[in-house]
Amino acid sequence: MKFVLDFLAGFYYLCCPERTYQIYIMTTPTSSYFSSRATVRNFKPEAPSRELLREIAQQAMRAPTTGNMQLYSAVVTTDPERLTILRGAHFNQPASMAPVLITICADVRRFERWCELSNAAPAFRNLQGLMAAILDASLFAQQFTVIAEMQGLGTCWLGTTTYNAPEIAEALNLPKGVVPIGTLAIGYPQERPAQCERLPLDALWHEEEYPEHSDEEILTLFKAKDEFAPNRKFVEENGKQTLAQVFTDVRYPRSTSDPFSAKFADFLRAQGFEL
Ligand SMILES: Cc1cc2nc3c(=O)[nH]c(=O)nc-3n(C[C@H](O)[C@H](O)[C@H](O)COP(=O)(O)O)c2cc1C
Repeated sequence: MKFVLDFLAGFYYLCCPERTYQIYIMTTPTSSYFSSRATVRNFKPEAPSRELLREIAQQAMRAPTTGNMQLYSAVVTTDPERLTILRGAHFNQPASMAPVLITICADVRRFERWCELSNAAPAFRNLQGLMAAILDASLFAQQFTVIAEMQGLGTCWLGTTTYNAPEIAEALNLPKGVVPIGTLAIGYPQERPAQCERLPLDALWHEEEYPEHSDEEILTLFKAKDEFAPNRKFVEENGKQTLAQVFTDVRYPRSTSDPFSAKFADFLRAQGFEL
């Protein structure tokens, strides 16, 4: 593939040298991957092999990590009985039916134990330690996602992991110091999903200082989201007046987000974190 692209780029250079680099970038799998990627929620039944997943993990492990401590673990589940338990913890949502679920964990335990065995006194069971481990785990998960998707696999991140963390921890035998922070549902895509909208770059990319957006500017930044046809359909189907109300009243209402937050905070303390 690389050879073909190099050849095409070389040919194009002869015709139009000043644009060659741009065209080359545009035709690399990397750029086409990023401009076309989308979350997959509908998977073929056959699971990607453990060898393939290990290979991807081996590469993903090169992700940056706090102090090179690698404060994370990933637990792969393909066993049908365990999948049933995990799917229940994810409310049996469609993406949880993937043939493989990989639970991504913030993990200070392994490093801490090494410290203890090396006559060193670790101090990771606090907010800074937890943050470092969550960041390490997230960066690994994202790198894993990119590599897996570039190889033709589909993925969906399941945020419901932190809603039912105690149940997931029990199903996976997670010890103290280890906290599941997300789950990658992974498999071969049944279909190519449509891409959803994004905010314009200027909503989140700021030069030098954080801007003070006027109310009008905020509404303009969210215009594309408000007007995106599938979002308008959500508003209508849920009998709401605005898209924001779908988020606040239907998807993430206080009535569920407060109790799930309290449950997760209790779980973090039970896992030995002093917050
Ligand atoms: C932290 C996090 C939690 C998510 N939780 C879920 C989930 O529970 N179920 C789901 O179907 N998708 C979930 N997603 C996927 C998002 O809905 C998806 O990334 C977003 O709508 C943008 O779509 P795209 O990835 O296709 O661009 C989650 C993504 C993230 C980053």
